[in-house]
Amino acid sequence: MTATLITGIAELTTNDEELGTLPDAALVLRGARVEWVGPAAHAPDADDRIDVEGRAVLPGWVDSHTHLVFAGDRSAEFAARLAGRPYDAGGIAVTVEATRSAPDYVLVATLRRLVREAVNQGTTYLETKTGYGLTVADEARSARLASGLVDEVTFLGAHVVPPGWNADDYVDLVCGEMLDAVAPYARWADVFCERGAFDAELSRDVLTAAAKAGLGLRVHGNQLGPGPGVRLAVEHGAASVDHCTYLTESDVDALAASDTVATLLPACDLSTRQPLPDARALLDAGATVALASNCNPGSSYTTSMAFCVATAVLQMGMTVEEAVRAATWGGARALRRESGEGAVGVLRPGARADVHVLDAPSAAHLAYRPGVPLTHAVWRAGRRAR
Ligand code: NIG
Repeated sequence: MTATLITGIAELTTNDEELGTLPDAALVLRGARVEWVGPAAHAPDADDRIDVEGRAVLPGWVDSHTHLVFAGDRSAEFAARLAGRPYDAGGIAVTVEATRSAPDYVLVATLRRLVREAVNQGTTYLETKTGYGLTVADEARSARLASGLVDEVTFLGAHVVPPGWNADDYVDLVCGEMLDAVAPYARWADVFCERGAFDAELSRDVLTAAAKAGLGLRVHGNQLGPGPGVRLAVEHGAASVDHCTYLTESDVDALAASDTVATLLPACDLSTRQPLPDARALLDAGATVALASNCNPGSSYTTSMAFCVATAVLQMGMTVEEAVRAATWGGARALRRESGEGAVGVLRPGARADVHVLDAPSAAHLAYRPGVPLTHAVWRAGRRAR
């Protein structure tokens, strides 16, 4: 395995407590791992040397919340929203119908296209969910196809109650046959705990069954209004509760006192014309915050983590450092991948060699130059991906 020295780094964000953010730094990658990180003046010799000529380097984005297994397009629904129609998640049924009738190769082509699009913008670690199949066979198919193309799969059979079912019977299916069929391909299970989707009691049933099957837990909560999602996620020790658009003070306190990450999805709030979440209240209370794209065809059709970071800085009161950390280390923490050998969202010896070189001298340019494609180069698990 050859070692590659990346030098000429004007600002290196490591997310490592001891290393911090280094000026005039260098990095050595060997195989799929980071081998060395430090001041350029102390860099060791390596087989190859790449000079990034005064650019900033970050860990690759960790996108911990996406829905990439789908077919079809919902631009008409988006246009209706722009004309004043509120988002109520009802369009999920449209994507479910299109997804069920799509052959595997169509779903795979969309997945590949979106993963490539994300990687080209600096995303190096991706989670995706099922949730547009909603039959045993279609959920298992979604999970199987995703498992070959993304880093982590989440079972979201409890996305909405599909047409023709009552909620109790459908949750029995999700917690029984569907969970058994999907679990071999998934690391996580999720439930959309919201008015119009699953209430607290049914959400609890899903989380309990998924935990029993050995899956880690995540919750979609507090997206369209205040509700029990955050409380439930914390009670069940979920790794994250995602959306968090409408939080009460007690939700914020509960998150701050827990290990559950608050994953904020600002692109979704903008696209659905919801308010942006109160990131400041969460951070000031001591909660862990992640930023993710929530890429899906209905509520957030973007793979751009840089857009989420810029929005968090310009509109949500986060500092550049907080937003970059939330989109890298925060996402890794939400997926419980931030520590140990092969950790992501961090650049330290032993971490996965996921490196994002910006075409800018500092990470501040992500907010200072919003909308400008600033990805210069990407290594994903040690391989040059862009
Ligand atoms: O995270 N909240 C539910 N699920 C997705 C939306 C899916 C859709 O509208 O297709 C979300 O926003």
